[in-house]
Amino acid sequence: MAILHIIKAPDPILKKRCAPVDRVDEDIRRVMDDMLETMYAAPGVGLAAPQIGIHKRIIVVDTSNPKGDRQPLRMANPEIVAASEDIVLREEGCLSFPDQYEEVERPATVRVRYLDHENEIREFDAEGLQAVCVQHEIDHLDGVLLVDHLSTLKRSIILRRMKKFKKAAVSA
Ligand code: NI
Repeated sequence: MAILHIIKAPDPILKKRCAPVDRVDEDIRRVMDDMLETMYAAPGVGLAAPQIGIHKRIIVVDTSNPKGDRQPLRMANPEIVAASEDIVLREEGCLSFPDQYEEVERPATVRVRYLDHENEIREFDAEGLQAVCVQHEIDHLDGVLLVDHLSTLKRSIILRRMKKFKKAAVSA
């Protein structure tokens, strides 16, 4: 396993749509494991493949308590097959937007279908933080970022802040 570099916004790599995974084989499993290790090291609760520069529909999520038994979810081709009418407003962060937290509205619970690390089709109902996280990561696979849920004004403020942050990181 390896800890990989997480691409920070703004970057055109993060705006590309990802291609479906044909089948979850050894190579895809390795990507999933590297993504999990990278996510835990960050630390974060979710990571999508485009954030490490891979344009395949793969996400990892773990919203369990870091002090307890970890419950990693490795998902290929995840899709929302049903969503509640209930909407929640919750603060979200993103490993591609360090230190930026913004409130986003999303369905409170969602049913997710995906291929697991053994290429088996699975389905489950996500709620609370896990539901938010899964929706956020699936967005990444379509090039949709946290800021795309905000007003034009807020989006431009955050992207300007991110450009400054990246410039400072390069010259440091
Ligand atoms: Ni994100």
